[in-house]
Amino acid sequence: MQKKQNAKLFSYISHFPTHFSHSDLLLSFKKSKKATMALAPLLHSKLPSLQLLLLISIFIFCSSLYASDDPPLSLDYYASTCPAVFDIIRKEMECEVLSDPRNAALVVRLHFHDCFVQGCDGSVLLDDTITLQGEKKASPNVNSLIGFSIIDKIKNKVESECPGIVSCADILTIAARDAVILVGGPYWDVPVGRKDSKTASYELASANIPTADEGLVSIISKFLYQGLSVKDMVALSGAHTIGMARCANFRARIYGDFETTSERSPISETYLSNLKSTCPAAGGGDDNVSAMDNVTPNLFDNSYFQILLKGEGLLNSDQELYSSMLGVQTKKLVAKYAHDPVGFFKQFSDSMVKLGNITNPDSFTNGEVRKNCRFVNT
Ligand code: HEM
Repeated sequence: MQKKQNAKLFSYISHFPTHFSHSDLLLSFKKSKKATMALAPLLHSKLPSLQLLLLISIFIFCSSLYASDDPPLSLDYYASTCPAVFDIIRKEMECEVLSDPRNAALVVRLHFHDCFVQGCDGSVLLDDTITLQGEKKASPNVNSLIGFSIIDKIKNKVESECPGIVSCADILTIAARDAVILVGGPYWDVPVGRKDSKTASYELASANIPTADEGLVSIISKFLYQGLSVKDMVALSGAHTIGMARCANFRARIYGDFETTSERSPISETYLSNLKSTCPAAGGGDDNVSAMDNVTPNLFDNSYFQILLKGEGLLNSDQELYSSMLGVQTKKLVAKYAHDPVGFFKQFSDSMVKLGNITNPDSFTNGEVRKNCRFVNT
């Protein structure tokens, strides 16, 4: 298996950078904290060629750490201990999304930010205490990540039915799946059996989570580090078909290359001037929000990709998927999903299962089922 992976890796590198399509082969490479930590400062370099070289270095480094452990999750983990758990979560999410469709987006993003830090272990849900520094104040999360009270409500309901059985990490994973369905997206089965961590990592939350003004190669490397491919990254970015972004995260884009990438039609000019009035150039209005999919903001569909095709993505990181010179494979995928909603749904479902299967091995031995998602049990 290792030999086969290395052969595929060699093939990838020998075609690099024009043949991006082989990056999927890196899926099962085990993540390496050391690799990312050591290379992180260089990944932000402005030199594309250097970035590309570094990406190759990460591949090689990660390949030496390949391991084939599957996460110990199963579909029927709660079949005898809490058979009602899926129904309880579904019912609560129905109420939440009915009261405000944006709640679907909040939960999906919470799940993503949980899984990219120590694996999907509920670490993002922990509040700061005297003895624990949580992830909520890390730069990608502070003033931005919301929706924790939705998970609190679901947890209370689940605890009253099956006390001490269902982890917060599982609740968040199931709720994210239900959130997507409730706004019109695809269904997928959710493997469960995660444990909640007793720790969180402010540092990893700051380092691992991609940001709006980060370069494409750096974002790709963050997904590869988690064992997710370029294909996963593009499909998962399709989650931006729902939800809002704050002006602080799209100011650079609308006063930057938005006009260059867009069609400059009267409609796109109007859209841009509306965005500018929501988000003034010089200071102020940082927390004003705009939908990332201005066509169908509350519907989970493929219009996000059609917007990228028109060059009107709201975030720099979104538009880069289609417009970056380095995005040979990402551009093809954006075009594919813009024209093939069924293909997008299928890949999104598969990639969400992979995202949810990024587990924290330590939580299986040292973790717990938290009583309150905000605090480690006493
Ligand atoms: C590819 C790299 C990604 C980057 C750079 C990125 C960045 C961002 C940013 C900057 C925002 C706006 C936050 C704010 O302004 O407060 C946002 C919102 C959002 N992101 Fe991402 N994201 C990425 C991938 C993902 C993935 C993989 C998912 C889920 C699978 C996701 C789900 C969401 C959702 C649903 C929202 C809207 C949340 C809301 O309405 O508050 N994102 N993202």
